[in-house]
Amino acid sequence: MRLDKYLHDLGYGSRRDIERLIKRQQVTVDGVRAKQGAVKVAADSEVAIDGQPLVYAPTVWLMLNKPAGVITAAKDKEQEAVMDLLPERFARMQVMPVGRLDKDTTGLLLLTNDGALAHRLLSPKQHVEKVYEVFYEETLAADAAAQCAAGIDLGDFTSAPAELEVVTPGHCFLRLREGKFHQVKRMLAARGKPVLYLKRVRMGNLPLDPALEPGTYRYLTEDEVESLRNF
Ligand code: URA
Repeated sequence: MRLDKYLHDLGYGSRRDIERLIKRQQVTVDGVRAKQGAVKVAADSEVAIDGQPLVYAPTVWLMLNKPAGVITAAKDKEQEAVMDLLPERFARMQVMPVGRLDKDTTGLLLLTNDGALAHRLLSPKQHVEKVYEVFYEETLAADAAAQCAAGIDLGDFTSAPAELEVVTPGHCFLRLREGKFHQVKRMLAARGKPVLYLKRVRMGNLPLDPALEPGTYRYLTEDEVESLRNF
C-alpha cells in the first residue's frame, strides 16, 4: 500500500495535509524518512510520525438507511441490531452507531470507528442539526411552529428552539439541534399528536442518500467526512 493511502486511512487528513507531514520530514517507514506519498508500506512495515509508531486500523464512516424494527445497538440476543445489517468485518473494526434512533425510527444513521469525531458530533455543545420527517395524527395547532421555536416544556427539560415546517396536515419536518431520548415523539406528544412515522433525513450537512434502500449502507465520501469535520 502507498504511504499516503495508509495515512489517509488512519484519518491524517486530506492529501495536502499528508503531503505536508511528509515534506516536514515527520514520517518514517521502517526508520527511514519518507520523501513522498508513493513510498510503499508493507504489511509488516513500521510507520511512525514524529517517532511515534502507528497502528494500522483504518477509519471507516458509513451511512445506513435504518429500517424500522431494528434496534440501534452492536448486538442483541433477541432482536435484530443495526450491526447485523453490515458485513461482519465492520464489527471487528470497532465500527459503531453514532447516537441512536428508536427501533421504529427509520433513516439516516451514521456508523464509524472514529470515536473522536463521533463524540464531537454527539456533544450537546456542538448543536449539530438533525432533520426529521414526521407523520402524525391529525393536524397541529396553528401556533405549533411558534411553540417549537420558543421551546416546549417536556417536564424534565424544555426543548431548545427547533424549526417546524408543516408540509400538509399530519406531515411535517422538524429541525433540532439537540437529541434527547425520544425527543421528536415527546415534542409532538406534548402537543397531543402521536407520531405515526419518523425518519431522520439529515444530520449536520449530510442528507440521507435517496439512492439507499432501507437496510442498505454505503461508505461516506472523503468530502462528506470532511463536511462532518467542518459542520
Ligand atoms: N426522536 C425520537 O423521538 N426518536 C428517534 O428515534 C429520534 C428522535
